[in-house]
Amino acid sequence: MKTILITGATSGIGYEAAIVLAKEGHRIVMVGRDKAKTERCVTEVQAKSGNDRVSYLLGDFASQKSVRQLAADFRAQYDRLDVLVNNAGTVFNERSVTGDGIESTFATNHLGYFLLTTLLLDIVIKSAPARIVVVSSTGHYRGTMDFDDLGFEKGGYGIMKAYTRSKLANVLMTRSLMKRLEGKNVTVNALHPGAVATSIWQGAPKWTQPILGVVKSLFMISPEEGARTITYLATSPEVEGKTGLYFEKNKPRTPAKLARDEAVAEQLWTRSEELVRPSA
Ligand SMILES: NC(=O)c1ccc[n+]([C@@H]2O[C@H](COP(=O)([O-])OP(=O)(O)OC[C@H]3O[C@@H](n4cnc5c(N)ncnc54)[C@H](OP(=O)(O)O)[C@@H]3O)[C@@H](O)[C@H]2O)c1
Repeated sequence: MKTILITGATSGIGYEAAIVLAKEGHRIVMVGRDKAKTERCVTEVQAKSGNDRVSYLLGDFASQKSVRQLAADFRAQYDRLDVLVNNAGTVFNERSVTGDGIESTFATNHLGYFLLTTLLLDIVIKSAPARIVVVSSTGHYRGTMDFDDLGFEKGGYGIMKAYTRSKLANVLMTRSLMKRLEGKNVTVNALHPGAVATSIWQGAPKWTQPILGVVKSLFMISPEEGARTITYLATSPEVEGKTGLYFEKNKPRTPAKLARDEAVAEQLWTRSEELVRPSA
């Protein structure tokens, strides 16, 4: 039985992954940001999986204080973490900044992953063989990385520009983590879940909603199907020892050229460390 923490477990593919992994008999820690909703999801996952070792912790990935509290709460209650699934993600129609002063998409989708992962890394290493799963997107192929304007203050904000940058950051972080985990028997892999009919695009402009409704029903896969690459990377013996890769449909795929750039990955790591420093 593995201890598996899943962020963004209250909706979409994170929720469905929680059900599948609970059915496999693991101890699941579902992370949500709303207490009532998260408690409801835990009850549902327990009922659907027949596994009562499903619990929850709360954390808002747009707040570094909250992510630190989440990591502290995890440490207080658990002594091992075999699989960390970084999945919570969102989009913002308008540019906004978090209470930490960072553009909200980058803060939530990238720095949230980065901070939680680095805060829990020692427990993951202690639990080896262990795995870290990073939910990115095929959108990362279109992502850009401008370290002089990470938050689109100068360059002009766009919902997709911000989202694809954050998802590129997910793949770059995977690469940097792989290097740091060498010899530690902890793997880290990124993935695209497919185009999945979930709530994520509720944050897109209102005028796109009718179009999205049609696209969802005609072309998108279900959240159950979307969860498959997560659960595959989390527990399948087929990927044992495989690390630093980017997967689509349970197959490794070469990520974007920029996502393979060592110097960019290292620069992002250093900048992320600076941005999550408590005094930053
Ligand atoms: N759907 C797709 O087509 C697609 C494609 C490529 C990649 N992805 C990636 O898949 C992941 C999951 O997305 P999804 O499609 O399943 O979307 P979803 O149904 O909207 O689920 C997103 C999850 O993230 C949580 N979340 C969002 N902002 C948060 C915050 N500030 N703090 C804590 N939790 C937060 C949500 O919590 P609430 O329940 O409280 O809202 C929810 O549990 C994301 O990383 C996304 O980028 C999705």
